[in-house]
Parts: sequence; C-alpha cells; structure tokens
Amino acid sequence: MIVQYDAKSLARLSVSKAEILRVFEGFSNKKAVRVIEKIPTLDGLFDANAVDRLMLTVHWEMQRLAEEFYHGNRVLRILRATIDSLRVKGFSGPIRIVDVGCGIGYTIRWLAAYTNLPAEKIELTGVDLNATLVNEADRLARAESLPCSFFHGDAFSSDLAGQIYISTGVIHHFRGDDLAAFFRRHDSEGTQAFIHFDFQPWALAPFGSWFFHVIRMRTALARHDGVLSAARAHTAQTLVSAARAGVLNLLTGIYGAKIWNTPAPRVFHALVGFRPNLVEYVKASLGGLLGELQ
Ligand SMILES: C[S@@+](CC[C@H](N)C(=O)[O-])C[C@H]1O[C@@H](n2cnc3c(N)ncnc32)[C@H](O)[C@@H]1O
Repeated sequence: MIVQYDAKSLARLSVSKAEILRVFEGFSNKKAVRVIEKIPTLDGLFDANAVDRLMLTVHWEMQRLAEEFYHGNRVLRILRATIDSLRVKGFSGPIRIVDVGCGIGYTIRWLAAYTNLPAEKIELTGVDLNATLVNEADRLARAESLPCSFFHGDAFSSDLAGQIYISTGVIHHFRGDDLAAFFRRHDSEGTQAFIHFDFQPWALAPFGSWFFHVIRMRTALARHDGVLSAARAHTAQTLVSAARAGVLNLLTGIYGAKIWNTPAPRVFHALVGFRPNLVEYVKASLGGLLGELQ
C-alpha cells in the first residue's frame, strides 16, 4: 500500500499518508499505524526516496530468510521436473521462466548462479511493477555477471510472456476477484506451467512467522508484514478453486504441502499447474510431493 504503480502505464503514483493511515485505523491495526507514522512525508505524500530505502532494506532481509530456507533448491526441484517433462514431450522451442513479482530477484539470481539452466538455453527472467526493486535485482545480477534478466513491467504483458510462471510470496496479496483475475492471466496459448510458492496457512503459522521475523528481521515493517502475510495466506482449497476456475488449459493442484511422509505442514507450499500432457512425467518425477492435479 505504501508504494503504488499504475499497472498499465507503469507510472509511480503518489500515496497519501493520511489515506493509508485511515485504512489501518479502520482495521484497528495499531502496529501497522505505528510503522506508517514513522515513514517521512512531503506535503502529506509519502517521501518516495524514504519508501524506496525502506522497501530495499525489507527485501534484503527477505533474501536472507530465503537463503536460510534453501528456497532456491526448493524451486529448482520442481522446475527441473517441469522442464524435463516439456523436453520429453517434444517441446523443443525456447523456454522462458518468468518470476512474477520478483522483488530483488533472489530466486532467479540463485537459479542463474547455481544451475545449468542458462546453458540449456532456458531464459531466466524476473518482472516486477516496482522499478526500484527491479533495478536492485539487475544491479545484483550484474555484480556477479549472472545470466538472467530483470524487467520493470507487468509480468503477464505480451512482450514479457513466458512458458513457465513462478512466484514466491505473491499470491496472498491477491484476494477475491483479484485472485481469480490473477489466474485468468495465465490462460494463454504459450503458458505450459506455473509454480506459485506461498505461505501455507495453519494454526501455528503466524507464530512461526513471528518467531523467524523477530530473530531475523530488523525493520518494523518486515516484522509486521511478514506475520500478517502468514496470517492472510490462502488455504489450498481457495487457491485450487480460483486456479481451476481461471486457467482452463492446465491441470492444477498443490505441491509440497507436507514434510516428508509426515502430516506436518511445510512453511511454504506451491499452487502448480501443468499442461495435461506433462502430468504423467511430473507425477512420476515428484512422487508424493505432488497432490492431485485436476
Ligand atoms: C511480496 S512482493 C514479492 C517478493 C519477492 N517475490 C521475494 O520473494 O522477495 C510482491 C511483488 O509483486 C509485484 N507484482 C504484483 N503484481 C505484479 C504483476 N502483474 N507483474 C509484476 N509484478 C507484480 C509487486 O510490485 C511486489 O513487488
């Protein structure tokens, strides 16, 4: 809410502090109000530079959590099965992976640094509506000469379209009609698969998230938003029904819900979708980690 871009023109929008304070006061969310009150303003509008500095700090902190949770390996495992299934089924064209809402691009930079995907002519891209975060992703990739690219834009626009869409911590931001609209945007001829990782909701998730955010995050915004995100995470049922209604040409389901063969839930699960001809291969390769696809 504190940083807003017009999804069509990509122009940065001015945001009134009073307006955002009113929203959180309406929820009686005192923690959020305290966080927002501290952000500097110019003529009642959030100071864009101060907001950008804060957002960068928060995303650097989020990158540390992703490193500690081995998020790169987690994404690679299912991506590997997806790419292999495409090749086995005779898909010989170029494959572009699009990380929707990539932030500072940790997942894509990890894939570029630690895997053979670029050598296999798999194009690794990240897209975000937030220009500051994308510029940081690009800066960090260039600092390490990584074979990946980042774009400021709408991840589903035709000029940035890919064959495989992935994301991390993005889908809980979309709710109701917006969630349905998010999935409808995958429904194009080129889309072969999607893999959207997000918090898995369960009774203890907000406490677990609180614990990790208190010990690892330093900004009040990250501490508050991280816990709220875990509390707002969609259930598997909400995700699959929204996806099944919106994406007609892919079979969808949940990946990685449980730890090994125990009933214990993982922190993150993923909503996944595959072209029907890929399903047999991905099922064989991912085994019990992959739930039922419909
Ligand atoms: C919570 S942040 C993502 C964090 C990031 N994935 C990470 O793991 O650090 C959500 C991001 O999604 C971006 N976003 C939402 N819809 C988008 C779209 N259609 N195209 C590109 N970016 C989008 C927002 O600009 C925001 O930066």
